[in-house]
Amino acid sequence: MKALLAIDQGTTSTRAIVFDAEGRKLGVAQRELPQSYPQPGWVEHDAQRIWQDTLTCAREALAAAKLQARQIASLGITNQRETTVIWERASGTPIHPAIVWQDRRTSAFCQQHQERSDWLNARTGLLLDPYFSATKIAWLLDQVPGARARAENGELAFGTIDSWLLWNLTGGRLHATDASNASRTALFNIATQQWDEELLAFFRVPRALLPEVRDCAADYGRTQTALLGGEIAIGGIAGDQQAATIGQACFAPGMIKSTYGTGCFMVLNTGPEFRRSRSRLLSTVAYRLNGQTTYALEGSIFVAGAAVQWLRDAMHLIRAAGETENLAKSIPDTQGVYLVPAFTGLGAPYWDPEARGAIFGLTRDSGIAHIVRAALESVAYQTRDLLQAMAQDAVPPTELRVDGGMVVNDWLTQCLADLLQLPVVRPQTVETTALGAAFLAGLTAGVYDSLDDIAKRWQSQARFVPQMATEKSNAAYEGWRKAVARVRSGA
Ligand code: G3P
Repeated sequence: MKALLAIDQGTTSTRAIVFDAEGRKLGVAQRELPQSYPQPGWVEHDAQRIWQDTLTCAREALAAAKLQARQIASLGITNQRETTVIWERASGTPIHPAIVWQDRRTSAFCQQHQERSDWLNARTGLLLDPYFSATKIAWLLDQVPGARARAENGELAFGTIDSWLLWNLTGGRLHATDASNASRTALFNIATQQWDEELLAFFRVPRALLPEVRDCAADYGRTQTALLGGEIAIGGIAGDQQAATIGQACFAPGMIKSTYGTGCFMVLNTGPEFRRSRSRLLSTVAYRLNGQTTYALEGSIFVAGAAVQWLRDAMHLIRAAGETENLAKSIPDTQGVYLVPAFTGLGAPYWDPEARGAIFGLTRDSGIAHIVRAALESVAYQTRDLLQAMAQDAVPPTELRVDGGMVVNDWLTQCLADLLQLPVVRPQTVETTALGAAFLAGLTAGVYDSLDDIAKRWQSQARFVPQMATEKSNAAYEGWRKAVARVRSGA
């Protein structure tokens, strides 16, 4: 038995899944992760809780699969990216709650230094935005008493969530990350594949804080024996969107996937050359294997599934996410209602951290179904924003592979095909993020011998073709563009 254990530490939940070599699930465990919003625009996580939940889930997934540590060929980690943890090397204790990728506390700094955005983009493929780790690190070093001096002395360690989990899984023996996670810090030069001294100086981040950067499929040591009832080799790490790209077997240039979790992230494989976007998308590391980097263009939307959570938890319009499909279907259209879920600003291609959410077009007839449907449609409209931007940078794709919790909703997936005017394909396993981490671990362990070997395991489950007339789709999208224009910070 060559089973693989994947840890998928996401924004709103932590999961562990045991897969067999064919990518079938043998055991799953999950924990919801509490969110903390100490001030408007701020988002924090308890890093210790993340570690404890990870350990619990890994143990429970093994138990559910009825497997022992020695029956696991390798473990892969995938994670919410950019989220920033700084901890004491001596004790392993974080010096502050983790600052989550959605957190906007550093937007004033980013706005003040916008003239450096192009300079930053040439090195990192990113933009100067609070989304990325660098300004979060600087904020922690400035705001936590004594942190800057301790960082310069080498007493502290920085990591994205993968590094934080790796440190804990290996009992503090390894402080490392992979190239895909490093590419989201705004400190890593994606052309040279090195931490960049000029970026470190600009953001005032001491080199001593940073982890070593390895390939996505690499030897990341072994879990401490006591944690999971025996040592397990750690063989893969990738940021969650990159792992989903691997889980969707998007290995050829031009292949594209979109994952619908808390946010929505579209990733287009662009091959071995670092190409800068002309339309405010990000260039990023898709994966690095055997020292060879494959690049991607990425469109990041901050709120997708989070809009449904908001309908449930803040507005109490629904009791469970599953209710949205029937509500959306219960009306023929929203009658001109648009919901722009810019709760934490707007991501690609707008990059407007100060924009805020709004609902437009309400009439006396508008009800819960209209607002719910408008929330789901906002996910499709935002996807079209990304697709249009990508079409300016690269050859337009012929189909879109989708995954993530939201695409089990058939109505939403059809809505995507209609509003994108593009075939949308859903794979057998929609847990492609965890599957991608397992594939990477399996590559290191020799369970797979190549990406082709992995691609053979990918299977389509359903294909949704556009049913809406192009003119109708375009007119609906025009309404969305007007709604977005009205929430922009300059509007
Ligand atoms: O860049 C943030 C992203 O990695 C978070 O993904 O799935 O936790 O919403 P998710």
